Amino acid sequence: MTDEIKPKSSKGQTMWGGRFAAGPGALMQAINVSIDFDRKLATQDIAGSKAHSDMLAAQGIITAEDRDAIHTGLDEIGAEIANGSFPWSEELEDIHLNIEARLKDKIGDAGGRLHTGRSRNDQVATDFRLWVRDHLDLFGQQLTTLIEALVDQAAENADTIMPGFTHLQSAQPVTFGHHMLAYAEMFARDRARFADCRTRMNESPLGAAALAGTPYNIDRDMTAAALGFDRPMANSLDAVSARDFALEALSAATICATHLSRLSEEIVIWTSAQFQFIKLSDAFTTGSSIMPQKRNPDAAELVRAKVGRIMGALTALTIVMKGLPLAYSKDMQEDKEPVFDAFDALELGLAAMAGMVADMVPNKDKLAGAAGAAFSTATDLADWLVMTLNMPFRDAHHVTGAIVAMAEKQGKTLDALDLADMQTVEPRITEDIYTVLTPLASASSRTSYGGTAPSEVRKQVKTWRGKLAK
Ligand code: ARG
Repeated sequence: MTDEIKPKSSKGQTMWGGRFAAGPGALMQAINVSIDFDRKLATQDIAGSKAHSDMLAAQGIITAEDRDAIHTGLDEIGAEIANGSFPWSEELEDIHLNIEARLKDKIGDAGGRLHTGRSRNDQVATDFRLWVRDHLDLFGQQLTTLIEALVDQAAENADTIMPGFTHLQSAQPVTFGHHMLAYAEMFARDRARFADCRTRMNESPLGAAALAGTPYNIDRDMTAAALGFDRPMANSLDAVSARDFALEALSAATICATHLSRLSEEIVIWTSAQFQFIKLSDAFTTGSSIMPQKRNPDAAELVRAKVGRIMGALTALTIVMKGLPLAYSKDMQEDKEPVFDAFDALELGLAAMAGMVADMVPNKDKLAGAAGAAFSTATDLADWLVMTLNMPFRDAHHVTGAIVAMAEKQGKTLDALDLADMQTVEPRITEDIYTVLTPLASASSRTSYGGTAPSEVRKQVKTWRGKLAK
């Protein structure tokens, strides 16, 4: 019977199903089983069961003795899982049934009473929420560490001059500290997104039971409070069906990973032989097996790539959830793996990035040299013409263009041009022009709020340190 349903080749060999010796039953188990991945929820499952049994006892639905036996059994199970002796069983499908069956083995009938007034549908929704919530908190802490590293670099490099780019072409001189603080702002928004997501998701599905609630006199406020939720979810159908908390967390993770990839890309560019803007230590680079001179920024490249799988997880789960009718469908068992994978990737990416930012040493000479190249102070020249000679900006732009062309022809930077030569283009230019033509002068003049001047960067560092201390 088993072999009948397996397609056979012309030689009578089965084309698939070699693994599933026992036929349809084994196939059902293979597609149904989730214990290989949802065992990650063990801690949350035990916490949920303790809260639920406490509540059942408080409401007089089970006895205090049964509750105590349940707690003792769950503690033993937690210890078995921690020390690797727990007898995981694929036949028992998932984490919930594995733990419940083990509990019954240990404490008998009392174990069978734990599932009163609850279903695996609200149980898994609760466990998964708790797991995601823990990770949102973790990302918040990791982002704080990363921001601290960026602010430290900014403090040390408030007046380290570097080229600022648009279109990856040298545009105007900026400070390295300013560049670091741009990322601090981005990662702070990521942190706020995770915190915001946490606030919205922090409601308890427990007690929604299979989908409709339960006739037992349960106290959902009590279990919600015990598990650190702000309140129980208000609609039992929604409670077991909702996975938008995971989608929202993955969206925030995707945006955060995008930011990580942008900084990674800059690290890759900056460490190249062509740029040499920063140096990373051996802690975050690898050698080449064939080219002895190489020092590859592998960590940055891998962080740059993580956004691929994280955004892939968001796409995967979005498509799983699309078009699902209320309430629970088994499709939703496919919610966990993408989130587990994406969050592992983000955790690693955030840790590696915080390490790289703390590790990197800017090459000040190279940065200053590059900052002065490509006529990066041309805008300063035009601004001087406007401010000193009251020239309309469009005319100043034109005059500056002619002076840049002259410098290009002479193979000189703007601050190395002779005054007499500049005066052939605009006779009213004076010696004073040289005070704005160096990259440092250019950056230092940009004192508008949020600007790149060292004085502004120092102010921002102070503001950041104040915020981080809270
Ligand atoms: N392993 C299942 C999941 O992850 C638990 C819920 C099962 N519920 C059910 N009615 N079969 O979604």
